[in-house]
Amino acid sequence: MKCAYAPYSKFQVGAAVLIRDGRIFTGCNVENASYGLTICAERNAIFAAVAASAGKPAIVAVAVVNRRGVPCSPCGACRQVIAEFGPDAMVWYLGPGGVVNRSLRELLVDGFVL
Ligand code: THU
Repeated sequence: MKCAYAPYSKFQVGAAVLIRDGRIFTGCNVENASYGLTICAERNAIFAAVAASAGKPAIVAVAVVNRRGVPCSPCGACRQVIAEFGPDAMVWYLGPGGVVNRSLRELLVDGFVL
């Protein structure tokens, strides 16, 4: 979160991904002047896990934090990417009433699969 590059939204986000072999990968959001090229903390953490794994990493859990300490759940695009590597993952984030722990299946009903 402290490493986030978010000069446009000023909304700094950090994510940590636990994979089945016990390793944890972190990521932050990285924005771009073209806005649309911005990538979320969650996807950066997941892609770091992929880049450091010989095969397909199995995501066990994802945690998300933001510097403002406001409710912030993973966006739809990130939910779809979590589903790719962790259909049974649990996701932790700040909701309106505190920390929320939900399954990816709850967060992405009928997600696209191939
Ligand atoms: N963002 C994340 O990195 N993760 C989320 O779960 C929600 C939003 C980022 C994207 C953008 O850089 C900023 O937060 C504002 O949307």
